[in-house]
Amino acid sequence: MAAPKKKLYLRTFGCQMNVADSQQMAEVLADRYELTSDPEEADLYLINTCAIRRKSEHKVLSLLGSLRDLKRRRPHLILGVGGCVAQQEGEKLLAAVPHLDLVFGTHGIWRLPELVERAHARRTVEVDLLEGYPGRRRRSWPPGVVQGYITIMQGCDNFCSFCVVPYVRGREVSRPPEDIEAEVRDFLAAGGKEVTLLGQNVNSYGRGLPEPVTFRQLLNRLAALPGLARLRFATSHPKDLSDDLIAAFGELPPLCEHLHLPAQSGSDRILRAMNRGYTRKEYLEKVARLRRVCPELALSTDLIVGFPGETEADFRDTLELVREAGFEAAFSFKYSPRPRTRAADFPDQVPEEVKSDRLGRLQALLGEQTLAAHRRLVRRVGEVLVEGESKRGGELSGRLRTNQVVNFAGPRHLLGELVQVEITAAHPHSLKGRWVREA
Ligand code: SAH
Ligand code: SF4
Ligand code: F3S
Repeated sequence: MAAPKKKLYLRTFGCQMNVADSQQMAEVLADRYELTSDPEEADLYLINTCAIRRKSEHKVLSLLGSLRDLKRRRPHLILGVGGCVAQQEGEKLLAAVPHLDLVFGTHGIWRLPELVERAHARRTVEVDLLEGYPGRRRRSWPPGVVQGYITIMQGCDNFCSFCVVPYVRGREVSRPPEDIEAEVRDFLAAGGKEVTLLGQNVNSYGRGLPEPVTFRQLLNRLAALPGLARLRFATSHPKDLSDDLIAAFGELPPLCEHLHLPAQSGSDRILRAMNRGYTRKEYLEKVARLRRVCPELALSTDLIVGFPGETEADFRDTLELVREAGFEAAFSFKYSPRPRTRAADFPDQVPEEVKSDRLGRLQALLGEQTLAAHRRLVRRVGEVLVEGESKRGGELSGRLRTNQVVNFAGPRHLLGELVQVEITAAHPHSLKGRWVREA
């Protein structure tokens, strides 16, 4: 009989890419470790970290601090930090956190078994690999999986002046399309129905491959796979959103009517200082084209307030853009200076109170717009992919093709199915529905 497996506790911060990376960590360690939801019984405790804002980094540091006790009670526990903060801080983390055993960077996932082994003998840091495509094909999907994240590229070459990602994820590298297709096929064979393709800038997918392909060509290839009910992707950079990609929203049936298109700001002056590579007018033109091709499209975005030099007038341009583009949903953030980025050294950093005030006003507007979009859906019937049970329990929960969360009462055998739901009420963050029939 094989030796009993040890326990792995995995805590994930950050974006969907980190969620996908954490799933890969569990997979590469699966020979020796099984996941536990109880940190008290862990033999290996890994934290997959995010460095995008100072707050994300603080969360990791305070969690690490709070683990000193656990480590004292379980001296054999290996405590490891991976992901973007690990990549950014490297050795410094070991120095700052005496009870930490292992630091591994964003490209170290496939070497985890060996690194964990080494960490048993001595404290280990492995963050210097930022070349080549770091991932491999994922082979196992948990039973009952319906929705999967599949990474199609790593890194970013855009160097937006506020952003740490190019420094912690390295240069842009695409995965070969055959590899992606094989992973999607495995996922579908395991019962999966919805795929979200991940990359920091999916629109530039395929550029450096030996046989270059475009993102649109990749979408065509995947959209044709039998059994794929829904296809999504994130994130798209507005400057690289091509006409043939826009056209895909009217042409590829599995491609969902939702696009996340981060605008960041509505002011041309600020967009230039951010090095975003588009103007407000160009952004709005692309939105207009998208809405022509796909009138039911839901558009979401990311916005930053308080970027260095942002005046009240610049900020009002952002509010105006939100209205004009008609975003259905958005994530909004206070600008946070990041190490090594250009904007961190810009003069005219905006005071914290001003950032908070602007964020409050922006979120009030976004909240109104999202609720109005939700209200427009009431009494309509739409397709929901049932992903799980609602947070409050007792109800099923899933998303429309346009990405809004819908909670509704229904039998558990609908889990994992596509069903038709009539929307009965609109809430700020979700919709309530009534199950009409199986799709
Ligand atoms: N690759 C994606 C963005 C990834 S980061 C893209 O280009 O769209 C997710 C979001 O975090 C960004 O869109 C931006 O709005 C926000 N963000 C990134 N760096 C930030 C910083 N220094 N301060 C505040 N928000 C930031
Ligand atoms: Fe960061 Fe810009 Fe790259 Fe997005 S496109 S990851 S915001 S540098
Ligand atoms: Fe954060 Fe790294 Fe993703 S910095 S947003 S986890 S790429």
